[in-house]
Order: sequence, then C-alpha cells, then structure tokens
Amino acid sequence: MANSKSLIAYFSRKGSNYVGGRIVNLPVGNTEVIAKKIEELTGSDLFKIDTVKLYPEDYTETTNVAMDEKRKNARPELTGTVDDMDAYDVIYLGYPNWWGTFPMAVFTFLESYDFSGKTIIPFCTHEGSGLGNSERDIKKLCSNANVKSGLAIRGGSVKSADKMLKSWLS
Ligand SMILES: Cc1cc2nc3c(=O)[nH]c(=O)nc-3n(C[C@H](O)[C@H](O)[C@H](O)COP(=O)(O)O)c2cc1C
Repeated sequence: MANSKSLIAYFSRKGSNYVGGRIVNLPVGNTEVIAKKIEELTGSDLFKIDTVKLYPEDYTETTNVAMDEKRKNARPELTGTVDDMDAYDVIYLGYPNWWGTFPMAVFTFLESYDFSGKTIIPFCTHEGSGLGNSERDIKKLCSNANVKSGLAIRGGSVKSADKMLKSWLS
C-alpha cells in the first residue's frame, strides 16, 4: 500500500462493560486499545466515531439502548466528521460487536461518506460473537468499496494483541 494514505475510524465505549464473564470498568474501551496499536504500527490518522447522545454508564442499560436503536434502525447523530475523506485510500474500521453487528453509530458513519474505490479493513472486539454480521453489513452499505476480511479480537485479549495485529497487518 505504498503512497496510500490510511485512516483508522473507530467506535469504542469506555466504562462499565462485560469482559470474560464479569462486569469491569474499562478506562479505555477495548476497540480503542486496538485502534491505538494500529496507529502505532501503521502511522495512520485516527478518527473516533462519537455520538452526540452518550450511552449510559451502566452496561445493562447500554445493551437496552443499543437493542432499541437496532430495532428502530436508528442513525445516532455523530459529533464530528472526517476533514478530508477523499484523501484516504485505506480505512481501518473498528467497532465492538453490539448485538451481532456494529453499533448503529457506525451505520451513521458509513452512510456519511462515499467509500467508492477505497479499501475498508474491519476490526472488531467482542465477547464471543466475533465479527458477526458486520462484514456483510459493511459490504451492503459500501457496495463500491473493497472490503477485506476483518480481524476479531476478544475484549479480554486486547492488551496482548500486538503479535496478532502485526501478523494481520502484514
Ligand atoms: C450494547 C452491547 C452489546 C453487545 N453485544 C455483543 C454481542 O452481540 N456479541 C458479543 O460477542 N459481544 C457483545 N458485546 C460485548 C462487546 O462487543 C465487547 O465488550 C467489546 O470489546 C466492547 O468494546 P469497546 O470497549 O471498544 O466498546 C456487547 C456489548 C455492549 C455494550
């Protein structure tokens, strides 16, 4: 990918979450940990997909809000936009698995730009469902993009994912 400019766009929710069978407090969200490692390894620009309306602190409440958004096929409003999406050829797209795919905020994000001709490389953190339907959903929303197979990492393994990430990126 010489001379191609890359962006890491990711959604991640810090705070109370369910990891390895128990509720823990994550000062940095699992997906953000991976996004920052990819930043270090690739030198890509970084963009965090944030919603105007914050999700609840509580894990179970968040699962309820997320389920409701999914059922309504909602498009939560985002706080910011990528300055010059045209400049990027490669997008590393990161998200947690929420109810079998990415959070609805990532649907908002993917519908906000034209990804024609760009390469999208998904990565996801999860608690057992892997990438779920997320790759299929990216392909549906970005039918003119080249969507590579994604990497799924268990939430409890993000801190020790360096080796796996290096071999995946190469
Ligand atoms: C609303 C919500 C729904 C979730 N749904 C799933 C799921 O369907 N399958 C799964 O394996 N993990 C699920 N999880 C667990 C997250 O995917 C996992 O904790 C992830 O690492 C969180 O990433 P983050 O800290 O970057 O937000 C869910 C978590 C939340 C908060």
